[in-house]
Amino acid sequence: MSQVAQRTKWPAIIVFSWVSLCVSMPLLNERDLLIEKENASRVGGNLVLTELEEDANKKLMHLKEKEVAEAMKTGLFPPSMHFFKAKHLIDQSNVFSILQKMPKGGALHLHDYAILSVDWLVYNASYLPNCYICFTPLWDVRFKFSSPLPPKDLPPDCSEWVLLETYRNNLKDITGFDKSLLSNLTLVTDIPEVTYPSQTFIWKRFENAFIAASGLISYAPVFKAYFYQGLLELYEDNIQYAEIRAMLPPVYELDGTMHDKRWSMAVYESTTQQFVKDHPDFVGAKIIYTAHRNENVPQIEEAVRAAMALRAEFPETMAGFDLVGWEDGGKALWELKDALTLPETLGDKLPYFFHAGETNWEGTSVDRNLLDALLLNTSRIGHGFAITKHPEAKNLALKMDIPIEVCPISNQVLMLVSDLRNHPAAVLMAEGHHIVVSSDDPSIFGAKGLSYDLYEMFMGIGGMSADLRTLKQLALNSLK
Ligand SMILES: *[C@@H]1O[C@H](CO)[C@@H](O)[C@H](O)[C@H]1NC(C)=O
Ligand SMILES: *[C@@H]1O[C@H](CO)[C@@H](O)[C@H](O)[C@H]1NC(C)=O
Ligand SMILES: *[C@@H]1O[C@H](CO)[C@@H](O)[C@H](O)[C@H]1NC(C)=O
Ligand SMILES: *[C@@H]1O[C@H](CO)[C@@H](O)[C@H](O)[C@H]1NC(C)=O
Ligand SMILES: [Zn+2]
Repeated sequence: MSQVAQRTKWPAIIVFSWVSLCVSMPLLNERDLLIEKENASRVGGNLVLTELEEDANKKLMHLKEKEVAEAMKTGLFPPSMHFFKAKHLIDQSNVFSILQKMPKGGALHLHDYAILSVDWLVYNASYLPNCYICFTPLWDVRFKFSSPLPPKDLPPDCSEWVLLETYRNNLKDITGFDKSLLSNLTLVTDIPEVTYPSQTFIWKRFENAFIAASGLISYAPVFKAYFYQGLLELYEDNIQYAEIRAMLPPVYELDGTMHDKRWSMAVYESTTQQFVKDHPDFVGAKIIYTAHRNENVPQIEEAVRAAMALRAEFPETMAGFDLVGWEDGGKALWELKDALTLPETLGDKLPYFFHAGETNWEGTSVDRNLLDALLLNTSRIGHGFAITKHPEAKNLALKMDIPIEVCPISNQVLMLVSDLRNHPAAVLMAEGHHIVVSSDDPSIFGAKGLSYDLYEMFMGIGGMSADLRTLKQLALNSLK
């Protein structure tokens, strides 16, 4: 090789490596900067873990990576499957068993008659003496306790009242019958896509399950025990605090005597106090009084007045007011504004916790609920499923620090989203919104406490970016 060739080769190499440095270093730096920025803006992105937590995080993420890799191989990833079909897989997950043991803070979005597994209602409550049952032509059931006489009023279209004890004694297959009662009280089925052809249909079955359960739960002795057992189930799932939306329907005694809302509030308050006494590491529970969004302005106005009076009487326990029921099928907040601005007009304070944006219909009057809830100074937003479609509402919620209560399994079962990796909360998580995880009606969805929803959040919605910092931030958010 000539000297010349040697000499020309060197500069070429130098030039080449100088060029590649020049191109790749800034590109690499820029890439790291962008990734770092995304990392930092995520929920929990600014938390610094202690050494011990860092260690736990490594182990947790190792398990998570293993489970995701396995899911990619088998094609069975629980968050992308319907919860009814995924539950048995979740029950076997190591990540899930860790989430179960983890302290979760508050469960802020639950409904009165759906906090406790229905097994207790069937195997305990319905076996109490003096329980009557009747059957409707749509294959569901109603319950009522009564003595010494059978119940007076028959629900519309129901068969006559039969004493459940007598009915069971005449059956060959009591186990099968009790199983059918369980399925009256939940939405669980092996074939949800066949059983529930539409949202209209599933919401009807959903409200029916509440009505069926209410005959059992609104019997005074069951009412008290149900709430205590419900708190116990939350406590056993490592939840420290709960807020429960309650319609405060009349509670009855054996002889037909009825109790009013104040009686129910007093029971909620004293039961909570007793529970905290028995479990000192449980912080407590509050009630959010709810009316049905199908009601008209005068009815909502009456409910708002009742909420203000109950708040004055039970300041420790009554947190505020909300509206429940299928949002697409009910009245928009704006239609009810005359009732909902009443506290402001009267100079009274009534915190709101509105369900808003639990819809897939963009641009409808109901879809405006998100903005209207914020205008009405809501303290939190229930679901907020549609919020990523509304930049003004999203920014306002962030600016006003209004938490969004995300209920993954509820949204999936009630047919807003099928693959939970596509849940809009993925965007809120990435942008570091103040979100909390909740379970809405765990008993009706065949779930329990908060762990299943947290699993969906951690594995599906948060994806591989979610780690221990995410979980810690979610728990902190729920207590703030
Ligand atoms: C971003 O976060 C991930 C963990 O989710 C971490 O592995 C990675 O090193 C972080 N990247 C940067 C550039 O900070
Ligand atoms: C409810 O229970 C009744 C009585 O056993 C049964 O016939 C019916 O199929 C059940 N309905 C549902 C939806 O499971
Ligand atoms: C029913 O529940 C109560 C608690 O409310 C409990 O004391 C009782 O032992 C339970 N009975 C059965 C048969 O499980
Ligand atoms: C909401 O809060 C703002 C600011 O505190 C207040 O001006 C407004 O009157 C409130 N609106 C309602 C409906 O309470
Ligand atoms: Zn709800």
